[in-house]
Amino acid sequence: MHIAVVGTGYVGLVTGACFAEFGVFVTCVDKDHEKIMKLKKGIIPFFEPGLEDIVKRNLKEKRLKFTTRIDEAVNEALVIFIAVGTPPRGDGSANLEYVEEVAKEIAKNMKNYKVIVTKSTVPVGTGFMIKEIIKKNLEKPIPFDIVSNPEFLREGSAIEDFMRPNRVVIGAESEQAIAIMKDLYRPLYLLETPFVITDIVTSELIKYATNSFLATKISFINEISALCEAVGADVNTVAKAMGLDGRIGPKFLHAGIGFGGSCLPKDTMALVKIAEEKGVELGIIKAAIEANKRQRERLIRKIINAFDNNIEGKTIGILGLSFKPNTDDIRESPAIYIIQNLLDKKALIKVYDPAAMENVKKIFPDIIYCSDPYSVSENADALVLVTEWNQFRNLDIEKIKNNMKDNLFFDFRNVYEPEKMKRLGFRYFGVGRN
Ligand code: UDX
Ligand code: UDX
Repeated sequence: MHIAVVGTGYVGLVTGACFAEFGVFVTCVDKDHEKIMKLKKGIIPFFEPGLEDIVKRNLKEKRLKFTTRIDEAVNEALVIFIAVGTPPRGDGSANLEYVEEVAKEIAKNMKNYKVIVTKSTVPVGTGFMIKEIIKKNLEKPIPFDIVSNPEFLREGSAIEDFMRPNRVVIGAESEQAIAIMKDLYRPLYLLETPFVITDIVTSELIKYATNSFLATKISFINEISALCEAVGADVNTVAKAMGLDGRIGPKFLHAGIGFGGSCLPKDTMALVKIAEEKGVELGIIKAAIEANKRQRERLIRKIINAFDNNIEGKTIGILGLSFKPNTDDIRESPAIYIIQNLLDKKALIKVYDPAAMENVKKIFPDIIYCSDPYSVSENADALVLVTEWNQFRNLDIEKIKNNMKDNLFFDFRNVYEPEKMKRLGFRYFGVGRN
């Protein structure tokens, strides 16, 4: 089978590479020439464990190719995935300009039956919108089907998530399209991955409902963390005991500085917007968005309060810049908010991250970039652990302490043991566990 994937961003590239690994012939299309030139040489524009190997191997075996020519890709493919960005507009709704553009291009170049699949997270109703656009732009009547096939990839473990998903969701209107999609996913079908086959609108909603629920779970435990601090309870133990209840489960119950990334913040806002347009109140999700912002602000205030509101000229070291470990993605990363806030109050900022420093340099060219966590700690008044990279879990804490000018440690992912840190002479600030 031949397929095309339009958009070689995070989602498109992982999807294209993994289908090629399944033995499918894949053409990845992007309008960005420079990106395509690099991809042809196996150069990946972002950091994702395992992806480069898969891309290089499948390029070599000629199952994967890259082009800027959407016409050629459409011609060869039976299934065309749309995986272009759907960035948020100012009001929180998703910008579908790119999706519309691609749908028109597909229509103009179609000569026979195609299955057109949305992989990008698109608002409920987009499938039908694409159908209309394609109908309108076809030169003569050609049969086609629209499918919604949302992705649930997590950055940092995207390959594993694609190869061993919890489920595959397919929303379609015709038996033929469902059969083709099942055929495409046959390797997963054989692994007994659960398939949820439904209509297009339901499938579109599943993605938003899933991400919004995950966001709500995080905000729930973050609000509880504030209460823990007020009453002297320990949020890690509360979360652990809650998670042992099989109806709740332990995942996504880690209190911290709040959720970031390219999906949770954007998808929660977009779902609220979709509901508003339909006159439906989604109070819980709105509250989860608000709680996320409050948690971030509350923890930033913790740093400033610890310096009696006078942080001017203090040296603050930041450990971790990406929105979570194992990625160089800094979209909606709490670290960016922290740095901006502290710079506004005239603090000096030193940072280290194993992967995301190049991206942050574009936003903050003038802060100090260090080569490892120990140089961040040199002469620092305070350290703030923002992203729980593995290499920050086992730091030589005594060495860190000796390097520092003052002794404040803000552990915004609850990586270290409060008692031990205090014994070592730190003024330690965790989340919901003092
Ligand atoms: C995007 C969305 O942000 C996310 O909500 C959705 O679930 C999946 O798609 P991502 O893959 O990270 O995620 O997007 P982005 O990094 O913006 O990549 C989009 C790519 O499509 C870019 O390389 C862009 O050049 C390309 N593109 C965009 C086209 O090829 N044609 C277009 O018309 C528009
Ligand atoms: C998410 C979804 O998990 C994935 O299914 C979807 O396809 C895309 O969006 P991703 O954004 O890569 O994936 O990251 P995820 O692992 O979900 O983490 C999101 C954010 O929540 C991170 O900022 C993380 O630090 C935070 N988080 C997660 C917590 O604060 N506590 C937790 O317990 C879990």
